[in-house]
Amino acid sequence: MNIITVINAKGGCGKSTIAMNLASGLARHGHRVLLMDLDPQAQVTQWLAAGDGLTSEGTLVSALTRQQSLSEVIQPTGFENLSFLASADGLEDLGREISQTDGYPSMLTQLIAEEHIADRFDFIVIDSPNQISPIMENAIFPADVFIVPFESTKAVKSYASIYKLLVKLRSNADFHMLHVLSNLTRLPGLRKRVLTLLADDHIPSARSEIRSCGWMAQVDENGGSIFHYRPFSKGAQDMAALVEEVRELFTHGPQAQPEAASPEVTPVTSNHDAVTVPTV
Ligand SMILES: Nc1ncnc2c1ncn2[C@@H]1O[C@H](COP(=O)(O)OP(=O)(O)OP(=O)(O)O)[C@@H](O)[C@H]1O
Ligand SMILES: [Mg+2]
Repeated sequence: MNIITVINAKGGCGKSTIAMNLASGLARHGHRVLLMDLDPQAQVTQWLAAGDGLTSEGTLVSALTRQQSLSEVIQPTGFENLSFLASADGLEDLGREISQTDGYPSMLTQLIAEEHIADRFDFIVIDSPNQISPIMENAIFPADVFIVPFESTKAVKSYASIYKLLVKLRSNADFHMLHVLSNLTRLPGLRKRVLTLLADDHIPSARSEIRSCGWMAQVDENGGSIFHYRPFSKGAQDMAALVEEVRELFTHGPQAQPEAASPEVTPVTSNHDAVTVPTV
């Protein structure tokens, strides 16, 4: 099983849009996918009508507090091969509470291992919150691949703080990065400015880019993915290319991949089993 976390410490950079559509795109290839909402804003949860974003029961909040098992709160979606784990706003308070617990960044990783979730899914896609927090750390700890969307020059600057956290939590650098240009074609000159900043910081961009697409901005209201809503749009085309790039990462392995950002990161082994047991 492979875990992909979509992350950046910048609001509105396209994390949820990419997480939702990537998960859906992988599922359409026949992979068994679990999409996890780790954002207390519960954006994807509401897109999928999988919760009201307020009630903790049946969500990750209940699983992390051990009131329900993780398996119990994983729900089917209306889409073949795609399961979902909902979030709720209680996740924010919970994040503050768990920060007092030893080994808290690996709490989710531990639940995944304990309940043998790896046997049931080929991919987990995690939508991360936009603030550095204990919940974000739980989104970082198990990931094999990080997708970092950049929709502004500010998003490039925010990446520095995320990268520091990645290196702190994953010091053996056993992960891959995909830096994805997201929604940059909405303003003249913006793409060029972001590319210049990325080049200055030696951050290589992924092969695929998610261009601005009006249909993509409406996909949340539709409750599904761009592949269902507007399968012939440029948003669907770009997301399909990203899905392919992610699949290639796992098919061909790290050697086939472009250089990672500095400091270099090369995937070695998965962190799923490297669980520090929290002492609750
Ligand atoms: N490629 C795109 N083209 C047009 N609009 C887009 C595109 N990607 C994202 N958007 C729109 O940009 C807004 C922000 O996207 P999204 O909610 O995915 O960002 P986010 O990083 O998850 O935000 P947050 O940090 O608040 O969780 C949304 O209104 C979304 O519909
Ligand atoms: Mg979001």
